[in-house]
Amino acid sequence: METVLIVCRSGLEPADTARIEGKLGQAGGEYRWTRRGGRVAIVVARLRGDDAEATALLDDPAIDYVLRDPSEAEIARIFSRRSMLNLAIGSTGLVSAALLGIPLGFYLSSSTGQRSLDGDLLVGRLDQIPINGARTQFVEGEEVIFVRRTEVEVLGFSATCTHSDICLVNWDAERHQLVCPCHRGIFDIRGNVVSGPPPRPLRQRTVVVRDGNVYVRKAQL
Ligand code: FES
Repeated sequence: METVLIVCRSGLEPADTARIEGKLGQAGGEYRWTRRGGRVAIVVARLRGDDAEATALLDDPAIDYVLRDPSEAEIARIFSRRSMLNLAIGSTGLVSAALLGIPLGFYLSSSTGQRSLDGDLLVGRLDQIPINGARTQFVEGEEVIFVRRTEVEVLGFSATCTHSDICLVNWDAERHQLVCPCHRGIFDIRGNVVSGPPPRPLRQRTVVVRDGNVYVRKAQL
């Protein structure tokens, strides 16, 4: 069976953990638990058994949803967050080093960390984002998605879906929308909810384009 990413409901009890581990033990494969805030996620590589068998095993009241065969980018976005790695609660399996190693390099090197004189944070050159394209990177400890609308207009949003802080939105260049892969939450180009379960808009960041560079205004906390 393919790799699966399992996201558990918040407020997981030890009994839930034990039950899920028992099921995963039956299903075989290699797995790793990770915690972010109140949420717990598990990535399972190469789960054994046929599809129906695995589906039955994963049908558990403590499991919120399962992403089947997630792309490397989806795994990267969830499991390479530094905050998640710091909060890792251990591994009872042996998730492939590649699953954790490849994305980590991307995220650690993705933010420039320089400030302009007026305090805006330089996040990169404008030509690194194609028109009608997007790029996600760490800014002040959170993933921000930058969408380039025109030659000179770039919008920035917190990429964390407002339905669950474990999922990040992607840019759909055809529909000009921001889409969360977890439950198909859809946001418009201003970050407003179009459909799906997200309860509120994405948090917008103020972006400034100057001299061919893209800056984001320091967050007002
Ligand atoms: S986490 Fe459910 S729609 Fe994003």
